[in-house]
Amino acid sequence: MSCPSETPAPFEPYRVKAVERLPNPTAPEREAALDRAHYNLFQLRSDEIRIDLLTDSGTSAMSDRQWAAMMLGDESYAGSRNFAHFEAVVRELTGFPHILPTHQGRAAENLLFSTLCRPGSVIPNNMHFDTTQAHILHNGGRPVNVAAAAAYDPDLEAPFKGDVDVPSLTRLLDREGREKVPLVMVTITNNTGGGQPVSLANVREVSKVVHARDIPLYLDMCRWAENAFFVREREPGMHDWSIPRIGRAFFDLADGATMSAKKDGLVNIGGFVATRDPHVAERLNEAQILFEGFTTYGGLARRDLEAMAIGLQEATELEYLEHRIAQMRYLAGRLQAAGVPIFRPVGGHAVYLDVRRFLPHLSEEELPGQALVVEIYREGGIRTVEVGSLMFGKEGNENGRSLELVRLAVPRRVYSAAQLAFVAETVGRVYARRNAIRGLRFTHRPERLPHFTARFAPLGERVSTAP
Ligand code: F0G
Repeated sequence: MSCPSETPAPFEPYRVKAVERLPNPTAPEREAALDRAHYNLFQLRSDEIRIDLLTDSGTSAMSDRQWAAMMLGDESYAGSRNFAHFEAVVRELTGFPHILPTHQGRAAENLLFSTLCRPGSVIPNNMHFDTTQAHILHNGGRPVNVAAAAAYDPDLEAPFKGDVDVPSLTRLLDREGREKVPLVMVTITNNTGGGQPVSLANVREVSKVVHARDIPLYLDMCRWAENAFFVREREPGMHDWSIPRIGRAFFDLADGATMSAKKDGLVNIGGFVATRDPHVAERLNEAQILFEGFTTYGGLARRDLEAMAIGLQEATELEYLEHRIAQMRYLAGRLQAAGVPIFRPVGGHAVYLDVRRFLPHLSEEELPGQALVVEIYREGGIRTVEVGSLMFGKEGNENGRSLELVRLAVPRRVYSAAQLAFVAETVGRVYARRNAIRGLRFTHRPERLPHFTARFAPLGERVSTAP
């Protein structure tokens, strides 16, 4: 086996046509920015950041074909030809007959859960993303995570750590009954659990269990093309299937899906909810008109629908996906060469640091994930995000397990290998001085989605007086 430091730089299958200058804040500027932002990196200004790995969502570089398509916007309120194109592409990729555009993924969640979730509803998922969890709670439901135990072991090398624990799901469904469970979700890939893929075999089993009880199955398909790449690579018999064919095999097992096209749609804004059920579609459409806009634009400019139609197809191209996954492996290889503990195996859209092994001297109350996010920014102006007890509270899975991670999300088609090498070097330097890293405490702790707006102060130091 080759040494991880020898991981070759991935060859970018595109060339640069427009450039955007990277800011280069100095160490004192970064320190001042941290103080002003109350140690919450969501509060930084983008010109205070050198490399932004906060999210892979809505941060993609669009292709020349997408930019050209933006000029073909038919901005009719109703019946735009861009909607017709978008609808045809999504129908072809997913097979779902009813496609309702939304401005992003959480808007699709809003339509779905305001339609199907009632007070007292129980909604299982391998692992809910924060907005999914928040929408279910907002509608009075209870989100339950039923990922298999492997999902909670950062060190275990296994091909499909996003899989649902089918026995746990079955027990939950038998306990709660059909009346209480309006739908079951599976998130492909599992963002909250290290960006890990879900196998087709697992979704097939889930579909059997769920449909035997007459419950609909919905996929959170934000990163379905990356999931399909891993299925092609790892699942027996799938090696020569195309990405769209693997996708269809997944969608054929489900009754609908929510999509944030800000991920595997390669656009800066956009999403949709899709269903097979004409009655559900009608109610979703009512909610769509109320919250998003008319059926044929759903909270977007029609030119955005055109860009999305093309982006959704480009995201299934094998050469693009091979480079994308190679980028994750390159970054992970260089981090591992510096001894940095990461969640394994590497997922599809990010490399996740294993905070419990990175900062074992900090207790959960000392907010180790957030402390690490702050140190990585302080060291090199790199913005990352905590995915752990701050983002999710103390919510674990059915069996009380939880993860404590920091995510280095890689925007699609944006950063070069040299820039990723810089990220690995920076994190390596933080790791070398890890024993001196202190924790944080809350100075303001909002009740809902706290990671966006919470304020912190370094432990043992005065509270910032910045407004
Ligand atoms: N589902 C998953 C699995 C997600 O990762 C996200 C967003 C959403 C739903 C909501 O989509 O942002 O378009 O409203 N994830 C982003 C992230 C924000 O950084 O992981 P959205």
